[in-house]
Amino acid sequence: MARQREFTEKIHDIHRARGRTPLAMVDTFGCQQNVADSQHILGMLRDMGCDFTDDPARADIVVMNTCAIRDHAEKRVYGTLGALTHTKKANPEQIICLCGCMAQRPEVARKVRESYRHVDLVFGPQALWKFPELLYQVYTRRGRVFSVENEHGSIAEGMPVVREGRVRAWVSIMYGCNNFCSYCIVPYVRGRERSRSPEKIVEEVRQLAAEGYKEITLLGQNVNSYGKDLDCGVDFSDLLAEIAGLPGDFLVRFMTSHPRDAGPKLFDTMARFPKIAKQLHLPVQCGSDRVLKAMNRHYNRQQYLELVDYARKVMPELVLTSDVIVGFPGETEAEFEETVTLIRQVRYDALFTFIYSPRPGTPAASLPDPATRQEKNQWFDRLCAAQNAISEEKHRAYVGKTLRVLVDGTDGDLLTARTEGGRLVRLTGDAGLIGRFCQVKIDGATTWSLTGTLAAE
Ligand code: 5AD
Ligand code: SF4
Repeated sequence: MARQREFTEKIHDIHRARGRTPLAMVDTFGCQQNVADSQHILGMLRDMGCDFTDDPARADIVVMNTCAIRDHAEKRVYGTLGALTHTKKANPEQIICLCGCMAQRPEVARKVRESYRHVDLVFGPQALWKFPELLYQVYTRRGRVFSVENEHGSIAEGMPVVREGRVRAWVSIMYGCNNFCSYCIVPYVRGRERSRSPEKIVEEVRQLAAEGYKEITLLGQNVNSYGKDLDCGVDFSDLLAEIAGLPGDFLVRFMTSHPRDAGPKLFDTMARFPKIAKQLHLPVQCGSDRVLKAMNRHYNRQQYLELVDYARKVMPELVLTSDVIVGFPGETEAEFEETVTLIRQVRYDALFTFIYSPRPGTPAASLPDPATRQEKNQWFDRLCAAQNAISEEKHRAYVGKTLRVLVDGTDGDLLTARTEGGRLVRLTGDAGLIGRFCQVKIDGATTWSLTGTLAAE
């Protein structure tokens, strides 16, 4: 990192010599991990002397932080990338960078090399920390730079960061994934699991709490396997307990949990500490044992249901969400129906639903996939309708209750807030309340959100 700071300084000197402050734009696609990574990119750019813009036509440096999880996400990136040919034509000095999960896919790097010649720099998530060095190469070599080799094992501490707002903060606790679910590209692009040291994480959270952040979300592709690579005797539950014991008035959340590695110790820890939000995102992916096996998920329906039962036994107020993939290769209608019965049985508060998208290089992509797109669309709609009815009923049950919420922003004339379980609440109130925990009486509900009014403390 010290070397990277030197490159940052050199770039800053180049920018200073130009006599005007360069403008940078970072466009983020995909998951919360990418949002967190982008905040580090913004931090590095700020330290290079950049100001920020949302307008690609005005930007001297454009960074696209991309997602490879589904084909749709990649298509959007290619669309945006195509449009940048015009901004580059208008400003040939503009530097265009492509990073994130897509950049680490060899096919993508090849396509960009050949067909998107206006892109100057391509680097994968494993090379994020080297951004200053790579950008310096672009400035000095006057050629295109590609850094997309797999660097399993690299972990960067002390990257600069620009956080959005002063209320919520993301903290990556680990990088990569070892699970190789058969449909998923993530282990190929983000590499093997690497955990940050518990001391570093706890220190970062302590600092954030001291600065007044009220909601801290711990991030990892599979947080429940935190620490397994460290051999320091600290697992995810231990880490959570230590964080929840820090001084300050804040809530800690985390994602994502793999059902294979979540268990009683985690749920008991969540139940024990008031600072740990009683919210769990526990992706089930599907309700059929045959499909779960083909997905390489390492749990079956019964084990998943038992896990949920235990979690709810120790946390009756738990807000539970999940991810589901519809139309995994070879899934039959009867197997899909098992997913519908599972979600009716579990009654999630909310569900993130996806139609299976083949990812080149993953085992599932070479399986026979006889169900048509039209069938899958119908299944998808059926699943959404079933879940929407449940979400609406669950939200209705909030009406009349008074809850503690964290006010985190505005939406038009209204304030937005989140319940401890992460449900969105809109209310009227003064913007001075942003960043405060308040008591709110819930007076309305839809499938997606709640409305409320401030109640006396
Ligand atoms: N197709 C569709 N959805 C996918 N996900 C991961 N890979 C794919 C894929 N190839 C979904 C999973 C995961 C979420 C982040 O994205 O449900 O939990
Ligand atoms: Fe992908 Fe499975 Fe790892 Fe999640 S746990 S990132 S779905 S391989």
